[in-house]
Amino acid sequence: MQVELRILRYDPERDAKPHWESYDVDADPKMDRVLDLLHRVKYNVDGSLTFRRSCAHGICGSDAVLINGRNRLACKERVEKLGRRITVAPLPGLPVVKDLVVDMDGFFDSYRSVMPFLVNDRPAPERERRQSPEERARYDDTTKCILCAACTSSCPSFWAKEAYVGPAAIVNAHRFIFDSRDEGEEERLEILAGDDGVWRCRTIFNCTDACPRGIHITQAILEVSSAIVERRT
Ligand code: SF4
Ligand code: F3S
Ligand code: FES
Repeated sequence: MQVELRILRYDPERDAKPHWESYDVDADPKMDRVLDLLHRVKYNVDGSLTFRRSCAHGICGSDAVLINGRNRLACKERVEKLGRRITVAPLPGLPVVKDLVVDMDGFFDSYRSVMPFLVNDRPAPERERRQSPEERARYDDTTKCILCAACTSSCPSFWAKEAYVGPAAIVNAHRFIFDSRDEGEEERLEILAGDDGVWRCRTIFNCTDACPRGIHITQAILEVSSAIVERRT
């Protein structure tokens, strides 16, 4: 079938502001994903079309974009589901570098600010630091994050104040806060109890809807908020 693919284009060296361009693209609705259509435009029509992608299998997290008004991974979004008119724009709320490429520096600064690594200064045991299946299950959901930014860039609280660390950072803090081997909980909770931490979440759930990994993001945020409250009482 033929699809009308509308892409929000922006070249900072040529354009004063972003503008829509339309492309008629042949598509196999059963087989193609939006990423296939973007490749077809880039390879056959306009080689200057700029977007990130790597794995094409929903693993690397590099091709999150706004598709028909929702943050999605271009490599996972099936054309069959979207119909004959598809719009693709860069992730909202992040500065656009060119076409569909956004500046992720602020996103990764927030990620790094919550110490997304194991903290444990005790001498390493002879073998691994052991953990029961129940202890491992406690944070399993939040290990699945691929840092695509679909959640943070769909969050109205983040749009309102970009200093908000955002759901992705909280998910990655959750992954360590509830890890029985980790000893950085106090410090992480202190960071997330600050002005730009968890209290900026208004439980809007856009993040949970946007997550390509199906992570229960809002629940994870609420669990971190509860841990902060428990620590104070
Ligand atoms: Fe992407 Fe989900 Fe991780 Fe957010 S939590 S960055 S939406 S994988
Ligand atoms: Fe934003 Fe998700 Fe909270 S959309 S307000 S972080 S529930
Ligand atoms: Fe890797 Fe889509 S290209 S997640």
